[in-house]
Amino acid sequence: MQIYLDYSATTPPRLEAIAKVRDILTNQWGNPSSLHTWGQRAATIVETARFQVASLLNAPNADSIIFTSGGTEADNLALLGITRQYSKPQHLIISSVEHSAISETARRLTQNGWEVTTLPVNRQGRVNALDLKEAIRSNTVLVSIIYGQSEVGTVQPIEELAKIAHAQGVLFHTDAVQVAGRLPLDVQRLGVDLLSLSGHKIYGIQGAGALYVRPGVAIGPLLAGGGQEQKLRSGTQGVPAIAGFGVAAELAALEMPTETPRLMGLRDRLFDLMADCPYLIPTGDRLYRLPHHVSFIMIAPSANHQGEKITGKTIVRQLNLAGIGISAGSACHSGQLTPSPILLAMGYSQTEGLAGIRLTLGRETTSEDIEWTAMVLKQILHRLIQPLIMVGR
Ligand SMILES: Cc1ncc(COP(=O)(O)O)c(C=O)c1O
Repeated sequence: MQIYLDYSATTPPRLEAIAKVRDILTNQWGNPSSLHTWGQRAATIVETARFQVASLLNAPNADSIIFTSGGTEADNLALLGITRQYSKPQHLIISSVEHSAISETARRLTQNGWEVTTLPVNRQGRVNALDLKEAIRSNTVLVSIIYGQSEVGTVQPIEELAKIAHAQGVLFHTDAVQVAGRLPLDVQRLGVDLLSLSGHKIYGIQGAGALYVRPGVAIGPLLAGGGQEQKLRSGTQGVPAIAGFGVAAELAALEMPTETPRLMGLRDRLFDLMADCPYLIPTGDRLYRLPHHVSFIMIAPSANHQGEKITGKTIVRQLNLAGIGISAGSACHSGQLTPSPILLAMGYSQTEGLAGIRLTLGRETTSEDIEWTAMVLKQILHRLIQPLIMVGR
């Protein structure tokens, strides 16, 4: 039995998107910038996808969608595209639970003289609106706050935060990569100026993402070249991946009214099933939470008999042997385990920062998968941790 529970990492491309890609690769492989029939067919495909993605967001017009290679590039384009409008470094605000596509970009900006305020979060990973209000300065040009946190599932009060930024004349960006297709997204109601998306998180194809740019917001390109995507993203568009993204966006909007409550039910069932497991504590906010997201930290003695650390990655490997794919919260750089910056920002210890696990559900997840996973996970935890407790380590 194979159970994939890592839909926040990537989603299996849906059949409709694969069919679209196959047709384009076989029959409609033109360059959308070419003036002839082949090119114009490709251009029509890109514009159809632009309309489909704009519709998912209730964007005021399709031209507010700039296609990128994915969520990372959309995040980079938001921060760098805005900050490059200024001849001198100014101030920007992010949260302490951003994806590295934002936090790393912000860190690099500080090397160029930009000042960055990183807002704290509470134990559940939520930003406090008052903290944002207080952090805004006369030279703040942009606030960027993640909408749905990928590691702990917490959803931020984006509408309220965007209002606070706008009240002081500051632009607002949100990374909605994990939210798209799972919760209704309406950029006009949210009042955001910029919003990042990724195609492969909504059953599209890896290699396409988008940045929504509210009409009237001035941003600059990262790449020099042919001036595609309204001069904001030079380079021949990846038409197959973009088309797959468009199809996935349209179908996500159609399926959300039934799929989101179904996922929430499975999510809550998994939390309930694990509630009597003495080795796990749920992380993130239980109420303001991504519909498909379950996360924990493990409470375990820090080392086994051989002195090896039991971390989230230990559980990932053990579950993988049992045919279940999940992920650990912490990053592993060149073989060295580092505690998750997200869990540390939420007030967890260094050891707890290594003990995060995340199970993210999706279209193919069934209630049987959830029951089975809970049972296997409990057995693994018991087998790994109980002997250590017995010998009093
Ligand atoms: C919140 C968030 N932002 C950005 C990204 C990066 O997206 P991509 O893989 O499309 O570059 C991810 C991917 O995990 C994510 O979860």
